[in-house]
Amino acid sequence: DKGLAVFTSGGDSQGMNAAVRACVRMAIYLGCKAYFIREGYQGMVDGGDNIQEANWASVSSIIHRGGTIIGSARCADFRERAGRLKAANNLVQKGITNLVVIGGDGSLTGANLFRQEWSSLLDELVKNGTITAAQQEKNSVLHIVGLVGSIDNDFCGTDMTIGTDSALHRIIEAIDAISSTAYSHQRTFIMEVMGRHCGYLPVVAGIISEADYVFLPEYPPPHDWPAKLVLKLEQERSAGQRLNIVIVAEGAMDREGNPITAEDVKKVIDERLKHDARITVLGHVQRGGNPSAFDRILACRMGAEATLALMEATKDSVPVVISLDGNQAVRVPLMECVERTQAVALAMKERRWADAVKLRGRS
Ligand code: F6P
Repeated sequence: DKGLAVFTSGGDSQGMNAAVRACVRMAIYLGCKAYFIREGYQGMVDGGDNIQEANWASVSSIIHRGGTIIGSARCADFRERAGRLKAANNLVQKGITNLVVIGGDGSLTGANLFRQEWSSLLDELVKNGTITAAQQEKNSVLHIVGLVGSIDNDFCGTDMTIGTDSALHRIIEAIDAISSTAYSHQRTFIMEVMGRHCGYLPVVAGIISEADYVFLPEYPPPHDWPAKLVLKLEQERSAGQRLNIVIVAEGAMDREGNPITAEDVKKVIDERLKHDARITVLGHVQRGGNPSAFDRILACRMGAEATLALMEATKDSVPVVISLDGNQAVRVPLMECVERTQAVALAMKERRWADAVKLRGRS
């Protein structure tokens, strides 16, 4: 009679639906009641129709769909204890003591704090007469498992996050398309690629699209980058290339930490080269569309493993995140990964780029 709920939080990513489906179906297979929580933490706080029992059929025909069918939202209410108290009550009323949170590091940290606070929240609910002592007893421990849904591949502890591969497909489709028209007109295109503070998308896109130059957050270029860029583009042209592709990460910066934008790069090309240069900002196209085969199977494996981890959890087990290690879906301590991810963010902020790269590890 265990109750398990799954929700998606923060920015969406392709493959989240496949993960939701796997969690729900594995829960039902194991004899558990499965629930959706719609609109992320906001739905947990608001309760009502936002928390809905799911059945085998309610997750049919979603594996191929991008985005998240159960919605995602940023939630200020959950940051306040009053909001978390409401959320706890909503879960207890449905007998939900197992949560799969699919999101980035902020969403996973929020879930862990909620878990730590759970018994004090239930004490307060008993004290103010919202739940009975019997309900408190029956729902005394909250178990959580995290899955990382993010196109950025910016989470420490997993080789790949759900959505990254699909985003790369969107990016290379776009660069391939741009390259054909750039070839016709001998143009130079500056492509702005997402990834927030993480250069994984731009660096991989740069390698697989044969870009001539890539600007990344983690490897700020030397002060004389304009001269180096111009030289490189000229070399490629004189070697017979009819076009140039330059990739600029949305979080690219110089060694002082000042942003380097696609406009900055275009200005250099306009002033120093006689190229017809254009900017294409890929934007949210990268987060949209159907998940790739890789993201679907990754999400299926991670979702199933998340449910198994919850069903095997004891009151002393530490919360885990399901990560990809080599080609295995494995359980790793959630807070270790979150802390390392936050250490990367701090290193980036303090311009300790080499430390950030080292801390981030394989991905
Ligand atoms: O984290 C995913 C991501 O798409 C980043 O690459 C990007 O910086 C950010 O989200 C955009 O956020 P929003 O959709 O809130 O504008």
